[in-house]
Parts: sequence; structure tokens; C-alpha cells
Amino acid sequence: MTARSHRLPGDPTRAGSVARMIRVDQAGEYGAARIYDGQLAVLGRSPAMPVIRRMAEQEKRHLEAFDRLMVERRVRPTLLSPLWHVAGFALGAATALLGERAAMACTVAVEEVIDEHYAKQIETLGAEEPELKAALAEFRGHEIEHRDTGLAHGAAEAPAYALLSAAIKTGSRLAIWLSTRI
Ligand SMILES: [Fe+2]
Ligand SMILES: [Fe+2]
Repeated sequence: MTARSHRLPGDPTRAGSVARMIRVDQAGEYGAARIYDGQLAVLGRSPAMPVIRRMAEQEKRHLEAFDRLMVERRVRPTLLSPLWHVAGFALGAATALLGERAAMACTVAVEEVIDEHYAKQIETLGAEEPELKAALAEFRGHEIEHRDTGLAHGAAEAPAYALLSAAIKTGSRLAIWLSTRI
């Protein structure tokens, strides 16, 4: 299967499209780790803390994997890393300040977007890059678990759940769009 149809203008090579994947995924995992940092800063003493901490630790492992891939493949990070540093933490902290269920709603919204993002990348890779593909599949499994954890902890009962979820999904998709390109 060719990935040609998924390539962006001005980036005609396979290596270029894989580099873009690594760049956006590193940015996403970085943002995810910062969201959990923000949640933990606020919810440090809540009963959900061990659950959040476990998800945060998985995000850090995902991030480390993409950090390694960036070095190995000489892929530069997104220029927007400083923005995700602040925005991720702010999103995590702000939702946590609304309460534990809002923090979980944030997790569910972000993970739903990441699940579909990784699924698309896995499809794009086809038979290419088997190792990267296996990592994406493993991480996607964790993200789906995080979504389910959020739902199990009352995400859908958060105040203004539909609005909150839609706003966070829009922001997450915009972050993916930007981090693929900048
Ligand atoms: Fe992750
Ligand atoms: Fe996650």
C-alpha cells in the first residue's frame, strides 16, 4: 500500500512523511504528559490520584519512545513545543479545577482524538515501518485504556460534558494539525 495519498504538499518522500508522524506523535505525547502534570498538580490528594499517576507514567514512556525515535531518525521537534508545554499543563489544571469528573472528561476527549489519530497513522503505514507501527498499536491500546478509565471515573457526568468534550476535541485536532506542519 502506498502512503502517497496521505502525504502533504511540499513533502513528497516517504522518509518525510514518517518524520512528520514522529514529530506530531512526540508533540502529542508531550502534550499528554503535560495535561496529566497539570491534573496531578491540582488533584494531588484526590482519591483518583493513583489512577491518574498510572496514566501519566504511561504517557511518559510513550514520550520517551518518540524522543528516542527523533534522535535516531534526526527528526526535529515541532516549533510549537513551548506552546504545548504551557497549553497542556493549563488544560490539565483547568479541567481538574472544575473537578475530578471534568479532569476525566478531558482525558476521554483527548484519548478519543489520539485513538483515531493513531488508527489513521497505522493505516497509512501499511506494511512499511513495522517497528514504528507496532509501537503505535501498543500506545493506541494504552490510550483506549485511558479513555475507558476516564469513563469509569465519571467523565460523562462532568458538568457541561458535551460542550467540554467538543471544545477539547477541537483543540486537540488543531494541535495535531499544527504540530504536523510547524
Ligand atoms: Fe500516550
Ligand atoms: Fe493517553
